Amino acid sequence: MGTPTYIYSARAVRDSYRAIDDAFAAYPHAIHYALKANSTLAIARLLRSLGSRADANSGGEIRVAQRAGFEARDIVFTGVGKTRDELEYAIAEGVGTINAESAGELDRIAAIARAQGTVARVAVRVNPDIDPKSHPHVSTGLKTNKFGVPLQEARGIYRARRETTGLQFVGVHIHIGSQITTLEPLRRAAAALTSLALELRDDGFVLEHVDLGGGLGIAYEGRPMINPVDYAGAVIPELRRIGAPVVLEPGRAVVGYSGALVARVVDTKCFPDGRTFAVLDAGMGELIRPALYGSFHRIVPVARRAGADSAWDVVGPICESSDVFARDRMLPPLQVDDLVAILDAGAYGSVMGSNYNRHLLPAEVLVDEGKWAVIRRRQTLEDVLALES
Ligand code: LLP
Repeated sequence: MGTPTYIYSARAVRDSYRAIDDAFAAYPHAIHYALKANSTLAIARLLRSLGSRADANSGGEIRVAQRAGFEARDIVFTGVGKTRDELEYAIAEGVGTINAESAGELDRIAAIARAQGTVARVAVRVNPDIDPKSHPHVSTGLKTNKFGVPLQEARGIYRARRETTGLQFVGVHIHIGSQITTLEPLRRAAAALTSLALELRDDGFVLEHVDLGGGLGIAYEGRPMINPVDYAGAVIPELRRIGAPVVLEPGRAVVGYSGALVARVVDTKCFPDGRTFAVLDAGMGELIRPALYGSFHRIVPVARRAGADSAWDVVGPICESSDVFARDRMLPPLQVDDLVAILDAGAYGSVMGSNYNRHLLPAEVLVDEGKWAVIRRRQTLEDVLALES
């Protein structure tokens, strides 16, 4: 396929999905895979075949989910800044739940539903001011973040709209952040959500579910980490206080481990201070996580050369000093044309790709049962220029 190319393992997706599903076996639950992590059609279809439902964050993701075979009623529509067009589409299609981000959005949803002569199924996303202890860029549940409505205002927002025509309140929603690696923030989020749901039940609301969002981290460093069993063990005791089914929106924990970005070394050089660079044909246009969040991804040569490990700066070809995958990474000898694999790139890799410096989006390949298939062909310059005059 040439390089750079994303290679995914279907088995790894299945294993991760089932690990979450099994961990929650003792409590009624529905997994709504967060498409934002990776919505390549074949990946979305694979998740659907496993019984997953979908979490869509835009009109585009709703449409992709439908193309992949998800029914509208099996989609939760989340996300800050939903446009009128997106809401009209979601309501007309009858998506399962719209997770509203503000009182104003609820009122716009109600007006659109009335205009369509229908009723929108909604939940309100609450912002509990809980620190997920993750990277600031992926923390969403702090009062300084743009997401949701303040927890203390949520009950009033529901009550004030109890009789509003066009709205049916079916749940409550929370999502405090991503790549969460400790249990306490997750448990506290579940506790806050459950307490609110109990108050709303006292107020006479009949909630079909409580939605815990996503956020479970993965072990990018390869060291032991909290896993789905730990996660379920932390949140289920809280959820039992309400007993309503839980909706989970995991993204990274489902697909993160499944993908590797394979790239080719196009240059090597050594500076007088001893710093040694390996320049790859993939960079922040293919995988922006290291540049954007300083994220760690393991890097391995596809075929290991003999010789001692030494410290390498592994960088991309883009004209930005942030275009760095790793600094001072201990790696075996590398030479021009060697292939390296950047691991755990199945989530928030391909979906965050860009054409910066007119690089073309990479190909994607899915390996399953010893066979492989191209699930996205490499972009061509003609594809890109087709949009331009
Ligand atoms: N639900 C909602 C409402 C979300 O905003 C997100 C992620 C998820 C579920 C899925 O979260 P997960 O289980 O994947 O942690 N680009 C960043 C991650 C951004 C996460 C955005 N929201 C990264 O590469 O680390």
